[in-house]
Amino acid sequence: MQHLRLGVNIDHVATIRNARGGGHPDPVRAARLAAAAGADGITAHLREDRRHISDGDISRLIDGVDLPLNLEIAATEEMLAIALRHTPHAACIVPEKRQEVTTEGGLDVAGGLEKLRPYCQALREAGIRVSLFVDPDPVQLEAAAALGVPVVELHTGAYCEACQEDRGGAQAREELARLVEAARVAEDLGLECHAGHGLTYDTVAPVAAIPSVVELNIGHFLIGEAIFCGLDSAIKRMRSLMDQARAEAAGARSA
Ligand code: PXP
Repeated sequence: MQHLRLGVNIDHVATIRNARGGGHPDPVRAARLAAAAGADGITAHLREDRRHISDGDISRLIDGVDLPLNLEIAATEEMLAIALRHTPHAACIVPEKRQEVTTEGGLDVAGGLEKLRPYCQALREAGIRVSLFVDPDPVQLEAAAALGVPVVELHTGAYCEACQEDRGGAQAREELARLVEAARVAEDLGLECHAGHGLTYDTVAPVAAIPSVVELNIGHFLIGEAIFCGLDSAIKRMRSLMDQARAEAAGARSA
């Protein structure tokens, strides 16, 4: 059974810090705490409008935290230059709209092949592991494979929203089936498969149970939950739900 990595997204620690200016709460301190609580990586999204993570946070996260950094960026020249300057362990390319509250949908890889090709190549040549954040759509996965990137991250937002609207109902089952099928297609195409967006204690288990998904990136819920029980406890509980779902699914497959 392959270990399921947990990448903790610390953007919203910076959101709270920026609400008042100054340095508290510090996302780097949260990242160190996440490492101690059992996270396997740190994820941070440097947005064009710098609404949460700042350029300075990126250097401090790389220099001051003993975990690989997965830097989420839009496919712009500005972000490419920043990624090449910092050379994080990984870069996840996401679509970005200035007015959106959060990343709304996956990247249109199929419609943007010509723009993305040199972009991904520059990152790869710098030794950065490139992933593309895509909807669970075979067309997008085939385009990602055609670009030669090693990793895709499946957008779990539609599944999580469906769970909220009709818990365990037909729509949630349909969205989960799309994720399961997309993970299978990704594996067949030789793509490492990650997943994330909107995951909570209530929605994580079915995604963690998909055997070819090897990493989940989770932020908003963990930082929100930390208000009530602390970051250490929120991460440990998420980790344990992931591990339990993974072990149960492996047991069911071998039975
Ligand atoms: N993965 C990607 C590519 C994202 O853009 C985000 C949100 O920044 C996440 C995962 C984490 O989503 P959430 O904060 O809803 O857990």
